[in-house]
Amino acid sequence: MRANDTRSAEAVRHGAYVCISVPRDAREAVGATAAEALAEHLGLRNEFDPGRDEPPGTIAFLSRVGATAAEIADVDLLSADAIIPVASVSAESVTEFCTELTRLLAQTIKPRIIGGSLRPTNYTGNAMHNFAYAHRVLQQPGTVMPNGFLVPMSKTAGWWQKDWMERHTYFLPRYDESGHMLNEGHALAAAAGIACLMRRTYKNATEPAPAETYDFINYFECADEDVSTFHEVCTALRDITKNPEWKFVREGPTWHGRRVPTWAELFG
Ligand code: HEM
Repeated sequence: MRANDTRSAEAVRHGAYVCISVPRDAREAVGATAAEALAEHLGLRNEFDPGRDEPPGTIAFLSRVGATAAEIADVDLLSADAIIPVASVSAESVTEFCTELTRLLAQTIKPRIIGGSLRPTNYTGNAMHNFAYAHRVLQQPGTVMPNGFLVPMSKTAGWWQKDWMERHTYFLPRYDESGHMLNEGHALAAAAGIACLMRRTYKNATEPAPAETYDFINYFECADEDVSTFHEVCTALRDITKNPEWKFVREGPTWHGRRVPTWAELFG
């Protein structure tokens, strides 16, 4: 007799980042009321004031601060004036929101939609969970953590050709035979962010993701005083002497936004 005890890798939540660029003279025409009514119709709670429980569906509003280009050119994300993050336990709700919002926007504004799903971790046992996730930062009100960063990325064919056991090794430090640490690996290189960054990573439905889509869509929130730590954590992860995993990473633009409470405040 054999057990049938495989752990689920099924998505537990779905999300999309709706990236929009709106010419100055068209900003009045983009209906705040219609967009907010749509969110209400779908029961999406505003993440600006997140509350203590995790609601079935959420919406947020991010107004552009700036963006930095990277290896994957993604002009629509790089130049976006605003991003509307939407998330739900129901994939249909996310799709409906994106479809309806696209319809509501004037013909001239075609949003770039970057979507994915939250799935259980792949390489995390109890000890890693306790190190990296047990005391993670939960979502705070927009007044406390006003910064949102979207950092989408994909991994190279070389990464996906590796067996999962080899991929797993990149999240831990490497040691030589005498126990001397050779490099930190992903989790230790990023450790400064554990206490101050709210982290959320969506994955594509397939691994690797199809062409023109991202494998991973990372999103972070933090307080103003922790923006420098966010950048330090990214710098540490990108340093392949500390974190050899990044040899296999191709990043899209890093987009920085300010969390605002309403659609009307998106275009300041
Ligand atoms: C702030 C502290 C951070 C810690 C402690 C941390 C830790 C971890 C750990 C333990 C995993 C493995 C999850 C699993 O078992 O599947 C992971 C995965 C991942 N992390 Fe981080 N991370 C941090 C920050 C970041 C940042 C800043 C980025 C991107 C800029 C990032 C991107 C990712 C991605 C894309 C994955 C999935 C990789 C894959 O499955 O191949 N992480 N992280």
